[in-house]
Amino acid sequence: MEIVPLKFKYIPEIVSWIKSEPDMVKWAGRIFTWPMTQKQFKEHIKEGKTQPQTLFPFVMVNDNRLVGYCELSSFHRHSDQASLTRVIISPEYRNKGMAKVMIKEVLNFGFKTLDLNRVSLGVFDFNEAAIKCYKNIGFLLEGTTRESAKAGNTYWNCHLMSILKREWKY
Ligand SMILES: CC(C)(COP(=O)(O)OP(=O)(O)OC[C@H]1O[C@@H](n2cnc3c(N)ncnc32)[C@H](O)[C@@H]1OP(=O)(O)O)[C@@H](O)C(=O)NCCC(=O)NCCS
Repeated sequence: MEIVPLKFKYIPEIVSWIKSEPDMVKWAGRIFTWPMTQKQFKEHIKEGKTQPQTLFPFVMVNDNRLVGYCELSSFHRHSDQASLTRVIISPEYRNKGMAKVMIKEVLNFGFKTLDLNRVSLGVFDFNEAAIKCYKNIGFLLEGTTRESAKAGNTYWNCHLMSILKREWKY
């Protein structure tokens, strides 16, 4: 397994994993509009190419096969923090511990290379696989924003979680 910066050639495959609007919102919140397109994803990546850089998109690959994608985003040097966002594993690789491997590598980059103090994330309260994975890594629950997103006719609660550098065990 190898974690490398995102290359645009991987975007069609990542977008193909998102089959419905609820899938899209569960994965990415509302930064994209349905139907999601490769163009929207590329725009998102381009917008992150600020000076200084605030977005660090990564893919995990195995023998040239794409396994997963995630980002460190909203990087702020003044508070030494960033968010873990857009975590997704290829459907064929799910439930094999791949997200844990990928996120640990990306946190290692965040805490060691970027010298972050805190990484936070948001996850919808019904997303049990993601919550379990984040808890296994050491993220702690900070609170819940109630009915803060809407998909179809349903409002979704969002758990806020974080991990600090002193809690980080690689
Ligand atoms: C969430 C996601 C990234 C997890 O990837 P993964 O590689 O399958 O995750 P892992 O195998 O590392 O960990 C999943 C954990 O949840 C558990 N799990 C899986 N499905 C579960 C379920 N329905 N209920 C409870 N736990 C579940 C697994 O057993 C595992 O825990 P364990 O290691 O203690 O056994 C993947 O399911 C995905 O891409 N989902 C779609 C996008 C998404 O929801 N992203 C998260 C946005 S916040």
